[in-house]
Amino acid sequence: MLPLIPDPQFISINSGIFTLDTETKIQVSVETAKLGQMLAGLLRPSTGFPFPVVIDGEPSKTHQNRIILHLTDDFENPEGYSLFVTENFVRIHAGELNGLFYGIQTLRQLLPTEIESAEVREGVSWELTAVTIHDKPQYQWRGLMLDVCRHMFPVEFIKKYIDLMALNKLNTLHLHLTEDQGWRIEIKKHPLLTEISSYREATPYPSNRNELDGKAYGGFYTQEQLIELVDYAQERFITVVPEIELPGHSVAALAAYPHLGCRGEGYAVRTFWGIEDDVYCAGNEDTFSFLEDVFGEVLAIFPSPIIHIGGDECPKVRWETCPKCQARIKSEGLADEDELQSYFVRRIEKYLNNNGRRLIGWDEILEGGLAPNATVMSWRGSEGGIKAATAGHDVVMTPNTHCYFDYYQSEDTENEPPAIGGYIPVENTYLFEPTAGIDSTHGPHVLGGQGNLWTEYINTPAQAEYMTYPRASALAEAVWSAKVERDFDSFNGRLKTLLERFDYLSVNYRTID
Ligand code: ACM
Ligand code: ZN
Repeated sequence: MLPLIPDPQFISINSGIFTLDTETKIQVSVETAKLGQMLAGLLRPSTGFPFPVVIDGEPSKTHQNRIILHLTDDFENPEGYSLFVTENFVRIHAGELNGLFYGIQTLRQLLPTEIESAEVREGVSWELTAVTIHDKPQYQWRGLMLDVCRHMFPVEFIKKYIDLMALNKLNTLHLHLTEDQGWRIEIKKHPLLTEISSYREATPYPSNRNELDGKAYGGFYTQEQLIELVDYAQERFITVVPEIELPGHSVAALAAYPHLGCRGEGYAVRTFWGIEDDVYCAGNEDTFSFLEDVFGEVLAIFPSPIIHIGGDECPKVRWETCPKCQARIKSEGLADEDELQSYFVRRIEKYLNNNGRRLIGWDEILEGGLAPNATVMSWRGSEGGIKAATAGHDVVMTPNTHCYFDYYQSEDTENEPPAIGGYIPVENTYLFEPTAGIDSTHGPHVLGGQGNLWTEYINTPAQAEYMTYPRASALAEAVWSAKVERDFDSFNGRLKTLLERFDYLSVNYRTID
């Protein structure tokens, strides 16, 4: 059994051995040269060999002892690839650079785990068994969400998070950037968002959610830092999808700009976890011009074709008694506050569509009627996603039955660090099936799946890794590999090798029971 995660679609183990040695060259074209350099950078330290990258046209039989990266036009899936290891050469074929990148990740996992070591060695000849692999993902959205609001994480840590995603062939990093408890993205036109909205006065203790620690907490990412992250992710074929929460989870913004709330005053960045009653006023035009300013800057930072607008957990109590909100319900002929939320989301969708982007929101955006082109992210189980897909909308499945990585990984919670609750062992994540409950006609609307890391109880990078891995590796296989190929015992066997790799990469994964 080859120790590959996610498990490729087709593997044939052949006879023969390819040996990487001091003569091995990496053969590229102009288009693939950058990937060749990336591969060389991966192989050089742990072997001590030079791996020169040579631009050399069509692969030929006379070229011995080469690793060839070759683009061809016979791949339908831009992320698909073929990998051939023979005695004489290693060749990766793909239709797009994404595919070649994934072929390189597979090649990496075929090599001994020591190649991940940062220790520089001299003259170590790694061997590869001859093999033919044809591979492509089942789903195009293979994501992780990181909540940087409840707790912030250093840019360098997010880069490591991206590196590990790439190793697992995940391609979407959803960054949850605004919350009741903190606004984390610099918006130049509204500087109070970073001066005021990014700081809270205290944080609940992880061991006691009803008591505050009394310590100010906060910070934000500059636009420059976010652009750096977007570029870093793009080089690893990962799209960063920003989330700007509306209409709810927005009291931090109201603390800086109180005229955007129904009451108009008395707001503070929230300290306790949970849901805040104060939300953006849907009857005030200033709310929409403010949000258009925000999205204007967000779109300039994030090239993602799809933008997350939150939409979850928006209490309607303020809207029920707000004269402006009630006037809006009347003037727009809306039935109730649920329809007012839909009105809100539709206006934002129109703005995003007019600017060439699509909108995605949590499944509450179904309540009161879905915006015409919206994609739904299903989190309260899969029901919302099933309903949206059946109605012809695209969906991303992140059900809290399989994909909530802030939940406990063991029933023995006494021996786990404090978590929000719940119980999702790695086996449950592994059994995640994005299209479960959806008929084959509507199956193609399921773009894929994602694991969510909410960080109320996660306040260090080490804890973030502990909660993410190995569940994210199980998710990676669930969204990449064909269902018929999936077998938890097989995964568990292959995982041992991946965890050795993680040891070299200093990943604080949870040891499985
Ligand atoms: C969510 O977990 N509130 C989307
Ligand atoms: Zn209002």
